[in-house]
Parts: sequence; structure tokens; C-alpha cells
Amino acid sequence: MSAEDGRPLWEQLADANRELPSGERLQKVLAAVGFGSRRTAEDLIAAGRVTVNGEVAILGRRVDADNDLVEVDGAPIGVKPDLVYYMLNKPAGVVVTASDTHDRPTIMELLPSEPRVFSVGRLDADTEGLLLVTNDGQLANRIAHPSNGVDKEYLVEVTNGAVAPGHLRQLRDGIELDDGMTAPAKVSQPEPGILRLTIHEGRNRQVRRMCEAIGHPVRRLVRTRVGPLSDRTLQPGEWRRWTNDERNAMIEAVAATTHRGDRSGKYDPTP
Ligand code: URA
Repeated sequence: MSAEDGRPLWEQLADANRELPSGERLQKVLAAVGFGSRRTAEDLIAAGRVTVNGEVAILGRRVDADNDLVEVDGAPIGVKPDLVYYMLNKPAGVVVTASDTHDRPTIMELLPSEPRVFSVGRLDADTEGLLLVTNDGQLANRIAHPSNGVDKEYLVEVTNGAVAPGHLRQLRDGIELDDGMTAPAKVSQPEPGILRLTIHEGRNRQVRRMCEAIGHPVRRLVRTRVGPLSDRTLQPGEWRRWTNDERNAMIEAVAATTHRGDRSGKYDPTP
């Protein structure tokens, strides 16, 4: 088995589990699922970056790849085969719900009906762009966590012309909304009246309320990135699965935000 044989990571892990008797050396298990050579894996262990069932592993540790939870930098190394991860380019007018009381089109009509999935956070009906959808509740919670979630980037067309530097600064520093101050945002104005805004909170209608607060209500709102994931080639209404690299990148991004804040929501792939 090779870490770069192109098959989904969970298939490689399943093979690794089949090939390796329980009580296999940790560095061999790590190497088998793509963490480089055994030497590289040994370095990771020696650096204290690998935990088994929450405890920092020592060199020579043996693990049961079926039952032990192995994590590198807080990110689990395995992927459960029944989990699915989609990204959808949500068109305006489509609602993020399983069924709409007003009979509007829903995202569920754009996605496979099985297995049952749910969105990672929400977008307003009028908001367009990148929506992540999965049946992995734990990863979804970590991505969408209101205070420690990963970055979400938006392209915003605002009304009332160019936004003055003082107002851009207000967006950057934090704005008093009726549910409290917003965390500092990254903001640029690539064209007059067009903002690129990055926030990591996920409060209700947050971007619209932030822009309203500075006197520039939103005309059009498009989400362009969630953490490391973006895809400019997806047409409105189109979806695709994440690649293994994208899933690994998201797990790393989630682990980084876990390190930056509380660890209560630490991602754990076991049911
Ligand atoms: N902020 C909003 O105001 N709306 C969205 O849909 C997403 C972020």
C-alpha cells in the first residue's frame, strides 16, 4: 500500500488495519496512512505531536489501529467510510433547510438524497456561494463554532458607493451589534463599493448587519472560502465531494483553531 496511490484515505486505512495486526508500532501505522516515511513518523512522535487516546505517545508505543484514537497535532488520522463531505455553490433564492414552509427551493433538492446530510452553518436565502454539507457532525461543529470556527471569506457588494477608510477600520476593529461586539475582521476594498471580508464568527446575518452598521447595506453577498476550501469553478447549483487533501487541510485548520481557543470541542472521528 502506498500513501499516494490515489484511493480515499479511509480505504488505505482499512487496508492498513487489515494488514497490521493489533498492537502495531505507531510509526508504522502513521507511515501507512500518509505521514511520510517511518523515520518522519518517528520524528513526529519524538516531537510530542502524536497522541493516542488523548495521551502524548512515546517512541515504541504500539497501537490497535481499529480501536485506538491516534491524532497528529490534534487531528485524527483516520476517516470513517460512511461519512460524506460535499461543497455546494448555493444560488441566491435557495434556502438552507431540509424543507421550507414557504415552498422555496432548498439545498436538499440540489444534493444526493442519501445519506442524509446537513449544512455546516447557514447562508441566508439571498446569500450565494460556498456551502459545506456533510453528515460528520463533529467536524461540522468545529468548522462552524461561533467563536473558534475557521475563517469564512465573503465578497460583498455594498450600497452607497465606496466605503471610507474610517468605516473599513471599524469593520477591522470590531463593530457593536445588538448581540455584542464582532471579533476583528480582515477587510479590503478591491474596487469601490466591493469588499472582501473575512470573519471567523458565524452569527446570524453577521456580514449584512456589519455593513448596515457602517451605513452600507449589502446589495450582493457571496461566500468565497471556508477555511482552506474554495472552488471558483463550481457553477451555481453545482456540488462536488471534497478531495482527501481538502479534508485533511480542513482537519488541520480545525485543529489550529482548537489550539487557539478552548479544546472542549476537539474533533474526534469516533461515533
Ligand atoms: N453573513 C450574512 O449576513 N449572511 C450570510 O448568509 C452569511 C454571513
